[in-house]
Amino acid sequence: MKQKNIVIFDTTLRDGEQCPGASMNLREKLEVARQLARLKVDVIEAGFPVISDGDFEAVRTIAQEIKGPIIAGLARCVEKDIDAAGAAVKPAGKRGRIHVFLATSKIHREFKLGKAKDEIIRLAVVGVKRAKSHVEDVEFSPEDGSRTEPEFLVEVCKAVIAAGATTVNIPDTVGWAVPEQYAALIGHLYESIPAFKSGKAVISVHCHNDLGLAVANSLAAVRAGARQVECTVNGIGERAGNAALEEIVMNLATRADFFEGFHCGINTKEIVKSSRLVSRMSGLVVQRSKAIVGENAFAHSSGIHQDGILKKRETYEIMDPQDVGWGLTELPLTKHSGRAAVAARLKHLGFKLPDKELQEVFTKFKEIGDKKKFVYDDDLTSLVEGKITEVPEVWSLEYIHVTTGNKTVPTATVRLTRKGQKPDEPIQDASIGDGPVDATLKAIDRLTSTKGRLMDYCLRAVSQGKDALGEVTVKVDFGGGNLVTGKGASTDVVEASARAYLNAVNRFLGPDKQGSEKAAQP
Ligand code: KIV
Ligand code: ZN
Repeated sequence: MKQKNIVIFDTTLRDGEQCPGASMNLREKLEVARQLARLKVDVIEAGFPVISDGDFEAVRTIAQEIKGPIIAGLARCVEKDIDAAGAAVKPAGKRGRIHVFLATSKIHREFKLGKAKDEIIRLAVVGVKRAKSHVEDVEFSPEDGSRTEPEFLVEVCKAVIAAGATTVNIPDTVGWAVPEQYAALIGHLYESIPAFKSGKAVISVHCHNDLGLAVANSLAAVRAGARQVECTVNGIGERAGNAALEEIVMNLATRADFFEGFHCGINTKEIVKSSRLVSRMSGLVVQRSKAIVGENAFAHSSGIHQDGILKKRETYEIMDPQDVGWGLTELPLTKHSGRAAVAARLKHLGFKLPDKELQEVFTKFKEIGDKKKFVYDDDLTSLVEGKITEVPEVWSLEYIHVTTGNKTVPTATVRLTRKGQKPDEPIQDASIGDGPVDATLKAIDRLTSTKGRLMDYCLRAVSQGKDALGEVTVKVDFGGGNLVTGKGASTDVVEASARAYLNAVNRFLGPDKQGSEKAAQP
């Protein structure tokens, strides 16, 4: 059987990050990029360099640090965008790609751009040629491709390929397509454009999930000629998200009988780890019943199923959970474990920390070890991720005291220090609230003179047991509708809440405001 390689183009750090409240700072993006490299994606779309200095720096740093995958930067068909993308991906050398896009559908031409068909083709060609002056590897996307007249789309594809595009992506920008129809469109392009058949250019698909069909559409397109799939870890992205990487990959692997000969180079054992990292870095919780990576994806509760599984796993399980990285945890560590054991476990988990940070994580590990019997890999991961999500602290938590109960008015006393202020001169205040968390956050508002509206609050236990570490993720609106994500962990959930909220306050007040929403997105 002839093997047909499917290029996995990951856009978690670009389209995924466009999801409200999912913004990540440089350190978080770099950590996700490292994990994507371990997952062995073929292309990392690292961001949209022109959109902000932070985005530019993130793409440039990823292009410099991450070895293996192609590093792509997105650009509109505008000189300054393309030049910014070119400069940002330059450190990747031959692995740098510029992804240029321009809308082609009738509705976008008439109402958004006010341009006729020939002008669209002209601009697309100029854009691709400009990108080509920076890098060899140029991708072009006719935005809203799935709603573009097929014959016009053929013209656009031919023109951009002649101008030097090596990949042409057909986005289902608004999640409008259905599998048979989308596959027919891709098949039509494949048959009509010799460069796709000869392999001179690759046909790519990029599907949004507004009707829940992003994965189905992508897979149907693969059978019709697409050779690159654009997707995100956990399916995060604009509105209802993008096609989920893990679902695309595991469909190709599990139903190899149907997707005959199609394969990709993903290291599937890294899928669960990637999902958890992206969830923690983006603050977007994975739904329990989410395919492949949800907590319940392999949990069989009915007796009949459990009985079947014990007799023969394949009776009710179509995938081996270990193949996607479930259940690969090692024996838990305890407070008696030494620095070398913790360092070795971190290395095994894929983290590379500078000595100073390793020491800080080790100190925290000891603190937790004193409070709970076992420190699991998930606890350790949470500690490291806490380090990664740290931002320069304008305000630090010194002390928290809470009184609460079902017949008491919950009251919190919080003591903070402000950067630059002497540690022995903390500021202290107290507040009552609807509950201990409310009282604590109100006290922090008073002390920091910020007034955040808590738009989302999520508490999860990092590992098993009543003494588990609680991890809190908050999304806070400090005005202007911009959501800032904050994260914090502790064995005490009120303290975890205070730390998460302060993390958001510090991101909001910090110098680069990274990790807060960007004002303008495409
Ligand atoms: O959905 C879309 O059309 C996009 C393009 C920029 C490829 O994300
Ligand atoms: Zn998109």
